[in-house]
Amino acid sequence: MPKLNILVGTMYGGALDVAEQVKPLFEQVGYKVAILEQPSLTDITESDADLALFCISTTGSGDFPGNFVPFVRTLRDQSPSLASLRYGLIALGDSSYGETFCGAGRSLDALLEDHGATRLGERLEVDAMETFMADDAAIPWVEEWIVAQQLKVI
Ligand SMILES: Cc1cc2nc3c(=O)[nH]c(=O)nc-3n(C[C@H](O)[C@H](O)[C@H](O)COP(=O)(O)O)c2cc1C
Repeated sequence: MPKLNILVGTMYGGALDVAEQVKPLFEQVGYKVAILEQPSLTDITESDADLALFCISTTGSGDFPGNFVPFVRTLRDQSPSLASLRYGLIALGDSSYGETFCGAGRSLDALLEDHGATRLGERLEVDAMETFMADDAAIPWVEEWIVAQQLKVI
């Protein structure tokens, strides 16, 4: 059974809620899913997971949520090759913050790309100004993502 790690970066729980809501969608198509609330770099470098999904909000002024800072710090310090990583990314933000909209998700995406990882499909950006419950945008996006990326194994 293929494995999916969902790595969560959250301040107030919205991104964790997204992870919990989309988890069954992957289980239904044959994945063993783990939600990682305190993600560390080894969750992608030493993991036997086939795929990673990042669910990450933005805080401060385009900053990473506190629980996600160690992951980013280690990635920048160790700068490993992530050439075998395939991932998807759901960024939560609020466009009223202007230029820093989804800043953490965008920075993470660039960082992963810089290290050779392959994003499957486009990044989803959920705008709290438009979507009250992030799940309302994330669930249909994941359903389409599974089909478009041919992730279904059963
Ligand atoms: C103090 C604070 C700072 C924020 N800064 C940003 C920001 O710079 N850019 C952005 O897009 N959203 C920003 N947001 C909005 C959050 O990213 C958004 O509400 C998100 O849905 C929160 O998800 P979470 O519950 O997983 O933390 C900020 C929210 C707060 C409370």
